[in-house]
Amino acid sequence: MPGAALVVAPGRPLRGSVRVPGDKSISHRAALLGGLAAGVTTVEGFLRAEDCLATLACVRALGVRIDDGGDRLTIHGGALAEPGDVLDVGNSGTTIRLLAGVLAGQPFHSVVTGDASVRRRPMDRVATPLRRMGARVAGRAGGRFAPLSIDGGGLRGIVYDTPVASAQVKSAVLLAGLFAEGETVVREPALSRDHTERMLRGFGVAVQRNGLAVGLRGPAPLRGAAVLVPGDLSSAAFFLAAAAFVPGSELTVTDVGLNPTRAGVLDVLAQMGADIRVWGRRDAGGEPVGSVTVRGSRLRGTVIGGELIPRAIDELPVLAVAACLADGETVIRDAAELRVKESDRIAALARELGRLGAEVAPQPDGLVIRGGRRFRGGRLQSGGDHRIAMALAVAGLCAEAPVTIDDTACIRTSFPDFEETLRRVTSA
Ligand code: S3P
Repeated sequence: MPGAALVVAPGRPLRGSVRVPGDKSISHRAALLGGLAAGVTTVEGFLRAEDCLATLACVRALGVRIDDGGDRLTIHGGALAEPGDVLDVGNSGTTIRLLAGVLAGQPFHSVVTGDASVRRRPMDRVATPLRRMGARVAGRAGGRFAPLSIDGGGLRGIVYDTPVASAQVKSAVLLAGLFAEGETVVREPALSRDHTERMLRGFGVAVQRNGLAVGLRGPAPLRGAAVLVPGDLSSAAFFLAAAAFVPGSELTVTDVGLNPTRAGVLDVLAQMGADIRVWGRRDAGGEPVGSVTVRGSRLRGTVIGGELIPRAIDELPVLAVAACLADGETVIRDAAELRVKESDRIAALARELGRLGAEVAPQPDGLVIRGGRRFRGGRLQSGGDHRIAMALAVAGLCAEAPVTIDDTACIRTSFPDFEETLRRVTSA
């Protein structure tokens, strides 16, 4: 079921203070590591969205008891058991790739699949290193696509130079490394989000970082931990960017994750001349958190490339919207990864923002955006991609007429309360 349309009427600034739901990346990792750890793991602030609920269901299907106390999950982890059926990750690329690493380490057979979007996404990036560690990983098209069938166990550590800066690849290899003999090292071309490394330390694993290389020595037992999940900066980004480009806005997002490997969106907005202030920084269970206040102002075009890309990868859709409204040209480059996300986001942004009258030229690895135009209203397609849907929704705040986005049920994969939150911050 593609799901209802969302209609956004223009002309209202964003005001007030909001908290956003829990970080998606950290929630996935909490469920997986909690399932692997001996003893009890508690998780507070777990993201109750379809992607993370899919991870929970997979961990349960591997024989782990999880008590759901609403605000707090209690995970009774330890040894995993062979699942009785195919594991289904739904729309979650993070789940299938991280789980593949865990399953590669288990001495049993498993099959893991997902929805049509997941089954189109490249899995060879994890299958290749996991095979090198000794797992048998098969899938469609020679192991390139899910469903993946995995016969794990008997792994040996490897040094893996990953061609893409991908936290999912890095995490899959490190998670398999927990079950391998000897040292496993992943070297990446640029630093991707480091939540796995941070959280593994919290679960008692000695993780070594040396520049762009990160490693651990297996077999490495995990012991249960208490995980606090901060608000998701990727969810906050839709509102922070919108507050930056909708005149008259003044919005604060509190208790949000500020991990520098994720916070590129704040750097880009500052580079674009946004009036943005980060305050109340503190550490929450090994992750930096704090508050961000943004006031509406004139933005200018910028260049987004290089090491900024992995730090802002999921925020590029909403930054593209900001770029359409900014003065001058914005170039997004080195971002070919956008083509293999929940949808081809380069194609989707060029097509849908073009429908609003913006000048957005797709490139093989990014977009060239000529800014300084107002959006017109219209009817847009999310293509089943939650971040495209939410980026187009906030574009509607700056249009000349209402914007309708079709097929917005996908928003539930990461931010079930998005629509309600948008209405709340624009109704003050
Ligand atoms: C994620 C890593 C990123 C990101 C995704 C979540 C994670 O993907 O785009 O939304 O939680 O590890 P890649 O590892 O493919 O870059």
